[in-house]
Amino acid sequence: MTATASQNGRIQVEGVRHIYKKGGTVALDGVDLEIGTGLFGLLGPNGAGKSTLMKILCTLIVPTDGKASVGGHDVVRERNAVRKQIGYLPQEFGAWRLHRVEEVIDTLALLSGLADKAVRKKRVREVLERVGLHDVLDRKVKKLSGGMVRRLGVAQALVHAPQVLIVDEPTVGLDPQERLRFRKLMAELSQERVILLSTHIVADLGSGCNDLALIDRGKVVFRGSPVKLVEGAKGKVFEAVLAVDGESKLAPGIEIVSRAREGVGIKIRGLAAGAEPPPGATMVAEPTLEEGYLAFMAERGRADAAAEGVAETEAEVAS
Ligand SMILES: Nc1ncnc2c1ncn2[C@@H]1O[C@H](COP(=O)(O)OP(=O)(O)OP(=O)(O)O)[C@@H](O)[C@H]1O
Ligand SMILES: [Mg+2]
Repeated sequence: MTATASQNGRIQVEGVRHIYKKGGTVALDGVDLEIGTGLFGLLGPNGAGKSTLMKILCTLIVPTDGKASVGGHDVVRERNAVRKQIGYLPQEFGAWRLHRVEEVIDTLALLSGLADKAVRKKRVREVLERVGLHDVLDRKVKKLSGGMVRRLGVAQALVHAPQVLIVDEPTVGLDPQERLRFRKLMAELSQERVILLSTHIVADLGSGCNDLALIDRGKVVFRGSPVKLVEGAKGKVFEAVLAVDGESKLAPGIEIVSRAREGVGIKIRGLAAGAEPPPGATMVAEPTLEEGYLAFMAERGRADAAAEGVAETEAEVAS
């Protein structure tokens, strides 16, 4: 492999800050990240800065400070080279409502430089087949389901065969079956390229993802494998059956992850972060990735509270 080939699709972010002029929000506050191959997850709550980072990598906005590159090309100085390497599915994809599926992708393929009509037609059919839209080539975009629109978004991002795919919250609003399908598509596509996928539906990263970063308030607060994130929730997730009014009696610091009716009571699955699980609870041996995420964020919340002196007051009350 040549030096250039090993740079294929590699994403490097160094000390990136971004302050939006409008409102003066510090959206990114010193982000360092190196992303290699496969499916990389970008997790974080609303407003964390995920979309901002993605837009910087796609050359849509210029960072206030720091540098970033894709495949060795600087996102500010070598925009065109970066754009050639990147396919982008924005968070709010949904334009082209009155056009037909094949027409949309054909037009975008033309814009990306595929001038030969026959070559283009073949390529357009290929990508639509790849995302499973070959049966609806003539359907208008406004008649597609939410999941199909998202897949059309992936097709448009793939049409120029980029080495990097950046997809921003692709599974929001999809039903469980479509989410599953999307997850599978991402796992398949990540065999051949780098995919950077942001989501706050943690489970949607799926088993195809081996590396992730969690960002919160503009900073990377966790970087590592999903397994490592799950580790942090071990010994904190429990299941318990409560009386119907039992929830209100739970200790503060317990977060309910899911609930279901059981007989006359309710069965809950909860996270005991800094609190004792309720009497009779059984600990869960294998927490989910979502629980790993929640446990991590709960820890952070408590660290913040401690910094503000809130935890000290709580401790005094408890003793
Ligand atoms: N165009 C903009 N002008 C001004 N402020 C913005 C703009 N876009 C985002 N922000 C602010 O920057 C911060 C980061 O926003 P960003 O959209 O990057 O977060 P996010 O992690 O993608 O959130 P979400 O999960 O809701 O999509 C937020 O406080 C947001 O309000
Ligand atoms: Mg966003």
